[in-house]
Amino acid sequence: MEQILDVIGSYVADAFETAGYDAKLGKVTISNRPDLCEYQCNGAMAGAKQYHKAPLEIAENVANVLDGCDAFESVDAVRPGFLNLKLSAEFLAGYLAEMAADERLGVPEADTPKKIIIDYGGANVAKPLHVGHLRSAVIGESVKRILHFLGNETIGDVHLGDWGLQMGLIITELRLRKPDLPYFDESYEGEYPEEAPFTISELEEIYPAASAKSKEDEEYKKAALEATNQLQQGRRGYHALWEHILNVSVADLKKNYDSLNVFFELWKKESDAQPYIPPLVEYLKKEGYAHLDQGALVVDVAEESDTKKIPPCMILKSDGASLYNTTDLATIVMRMENWKPDDIIYVVDKRQDLYFTQVFRCARKTKLVNEDTGLYFLGFGTMNGKDGKPFKTRQGGVMRLENLIADINEEMYTKIMENHETDPEEARETARIVALSAIKYGDLSNQASKDYIFDVDKFTSFEGNTGPYLLYTMVRIKSILRRYMEETGRSAEEIAALKLLPAAGESEKALALALTGFAPAVLLAGAELAPHKICGYIYELANQFNRFYHETKIMSEEKEAQRDSYIALLSLTLRVMECGISLLGFTAPEKM
Ligand code: ARG
Repeated sequence: MEQILDVIGSYVADAFETAGYDAKLGKVTISNRPDLCEYQCNGAMAGAKQYHKAPLEIAENVANVLDGCDAFESVDAVRPGFLNLKLSAEFLAGYLAEMAADERLGVPEADTPKKIIIDYGGANVAKPLHVGHLRSAVIGESVKRILHFLGNETIGDVHLGDWGLQMGLIITELRLRKPDLPYFDESYEGEYPEEAPFTISELEEIYPAASAKSKEDEEYKKAALEATNQLQQGRRGYHALWEHILNVSVADLKKNYDSLNVFFELWKKESDAQPYIPPLVEYLKKEGYAHLDQGALVVDVAEESDTKKIPPCMILKSDGASLYNTTDLATIVMRMENWKPDDIIYVVDKRQDLYFTQVFRCARKTKLVNEDTGLYFLGFGTMNGKDGKPFKTRQGGVMRLENLIADINEEMYTKIMENHETDPEEARETARIVALSAIKYGDLSNQASKDYIFDVDKFTSFEGNTGPYLLYTMVRIKSILRRYMEETGRSAEEIAALKLLPAAGESEKALALALTGFAPAVLLAGAELAPHKICGYIYELANQFNRFYHETKIMSEEKEAQRDSYIALLSLTLRVMECGISLLGFTAPEKM
């Protein structure tokens, strides 16, 4: 269905033409003076030069033509030449009816859908998820859902870190603790046990212990590096151990991501890109892209217009070892070969900005991607505590994601139980849903690139710009709709067919206008990869709804057609909010 701005714009453009001016001047925007009007057109000012006329005169000519147009309640030509427009309630009701009849609530699908890989999550195997990984998961999931809803084919790839020193550290520590395991016996030729020689809790204890030791003990560190190296060279026993680590760890990661409503289409790992490295190195050398610099193989990526120094992209260290960016380049090759994406979007900590500049430039220069392949870095800021420093536990340690979620769940549970008597089990489930909205909305409502303060009290509040406030509003609508269904015996389908009357009051019209803003908000969020645009929109919609709700007697309205129209408006509001929060990656409970 057509965007409301386009519909209004075409009326105004026609009027310009009828009045003898260029139709192109009839561009309409949302008013930046909402106290005066709802929409505005500044075309008369632009036309003044072209037609050697006072802008006000042009505006008046156009206003005269629009006088009879029933889309508008008023069209005012005002100094120095603005057209101030207010929509008629009939037109608005008609537009909302169309929106309600559209499954997609008026949001258009892309004309040329793209295939887009979103690289997000980025957890490291065997290391517990910490709050730093939260942002990537939350933002990436939302961006993916938005792009998907806009008609693109989206592929989320968790791109697990499974190829680094952490593997060597774990192997080294295990070897110390359980030297008799067959994995360490180089002469062992039999099958290795199917069962992992550790549980996830052991694994999570082993890694930090090993990591701490390696910082103090040079020998230990050397052993870990050597183990990493041997693993990467394909030592059989280490490879088998690595598989155990992976399986145990991935099962746990899936559980964690599930609880965040975060789902990946691909569970690719850094190790999956390794086979692509030797041919890549060969190619870079053969084509003359790479050269040796003090023994290391590098590709220059500096450009003349650079204002700061962009160092070369290192492909191999002087000892022949590959690096984090070699893996990323090889991953690009793997993705281009297997999925041929139009775009790849990386949702990673913004401190990796320079790094991705190097990787992208290198991939382009060496033609690993097509000329028109989009490579985007969506860098996010740090999640800080109230003290403005990176978020920590009360004891000052690294906060684990699981614990953070558990804390917020508990906080929500207490609030819900305080609010009203409910079955504790039901309250637990509701708390889980509301807590997730608190965490995700708290994050997503900020522009991704900015640091933000994770303020538990604020985020879990039922008032203000928070997830729970949105859910509370939705639950309020749901409960009215339930009452309506009980009282009238009507079904959800019958509610969907109710007729919307033109808005009678001011707050009702404001709500109707707010509803028409859904499609533009989603389109903007998609174009700018900016979930916070959707947050801002839904928050505004919730405010408009609550204003309307407080000023209107809905269920006690005596005229049946009027009451039914209110219900239709509520049901549309709920659908828009539901769609909006699903794009953010959370849901609403039935009660709270
Ligand atoms: N595992 C990395 C980390 O924890 C993030 C990976 C980001 N994605 C990428 N393609 N490099 O820092």
